Amino acid sequence: AHLWRGVINEYRERLDVSDATPVVTLGEGGTPLIPAPSLSQRTGAKVYVKFEGMNPTGSFKDRGMTMAISKGIEHGAKAVICASTGNTSASAAAYAAHAGITAAVLVPEGKIAMGKLSQAVAHGGQLIQVQGNFDDCLDLARDMSANYPVHLVNSVNPDRIEGQKTAAFEVVEVLGEAPDFHFIPIGNAGNYTAYTRGYSESIGYGDSTKLPRMFGFQAAGSAPIVDGAVVKNPETVASAIRIGNPASWELALQAREKTDGYFGAISDRDILRAQKILSSEVGVFVEPASAISVAGLLERSEAGVIPVGSTCVLTVTGHGLKDPQWALRTEDGGDVHPTVVPVDAAEVASVLGLSGEA
Ligand code: F0G
Repeated sequence: AHLWRGVINEYRERLDVSDATPVVTLGEGGTPLIPAPSLSQRTGAKVYVKFEGMNPTGSFKDRGMTMAISKGIEHGAKAVICASTGNTSASAAAYAAHAGITAAVLVPEGKIAMGKLSQAVAHGGQLIQVQGNFDDCLDLARDMSANYPVHLVNSVNPDRIEGQKTAAFEVVEVLGEAPDFHFIPIGNAGNYTAYTRGYSESIGYGDSTKLPRMFGFQAAGSAPIVDGAVVKNPETVASAIRIGNPASWELALQAREKTDGYFGAISDRDILRAQKILSSEVGVFVEPASAISVAGLLERSEAGVIPVGSTCVLTVTGHGLKDPQWALRTEDGGDVHPTVVPVDAAEVASVLGLSGEA
């Protein structure tokens, strides 16, 4: 059996690392590409889900973080800093803990999911809640790294994008070719940029012959790239992508141009509906931000843009357990109340609608 060694060791010759680079890894990458028959049936396309929630800290951030922390330490960093809507902070804290260095994480006060907050604390991150939104946190983190001895590990650090491009290599390896369409959430647009780079390089390595059309989605209340303007007070249930001024905006526009791509906005209602479809029909539980890839596919399919038989890959970026509260809400905003019974088989059978064989 081949034991996965993490993205730096697996893709060493495609990354800017050398023997001098200490490899800080938790075994990230190598995530499953899961066929999604129900989504195929709904759309007529061949649909696959790249489940990035299977990374060590439960999101795709680990692919970039192994690079950012390893290269940072190679260049002498003793402390790292990041702004985060939660996943980057969880990942930075975990990789910093593994390497024995300090991670300072700046998060918008009261605006990140409980699972992610718990991770940053559990891994010993220096968690600072900022009285502002993510965009304020990123300004602060950039300011801190420019003026103090702390190494910035947000996706404005090019090492992050380099690590994240490996997900595209894995997709091509499994499919034997690039897909026709790739669907992905957009926050800072770092990952959109990273996949585009990974797919481009795959062609250069002779692994594939085409670029997929890169389709990126923002939440409707937080859609600066779609709107073409900074959003001052972004709002959405998809807290991971509640970002009003994406750091990789310009790169994303270039990537869309290059791939004949598309940017769309999705309502919170459709995000939550897509989350439920994915968990109840495919068996993959993701956080709301990740479900936007599914919502985007369904929307574009309905718009008639996805030819029957097209291969579609959907990156679902983070695990549902990070932000589980949404699964316990009904569509009209009520609470789900699982049935309670006494210790009695007949009662259980009655609830399940089963009749005895007697
Ligand atoms: N999905 C999830 C689950 C995320 O956490 C993020 C970004 C994205 C999608 C968007 O990726 O920024 O590369 O376009 N989360 C960052 C964070 C902002 O701090 O964890 P992007």
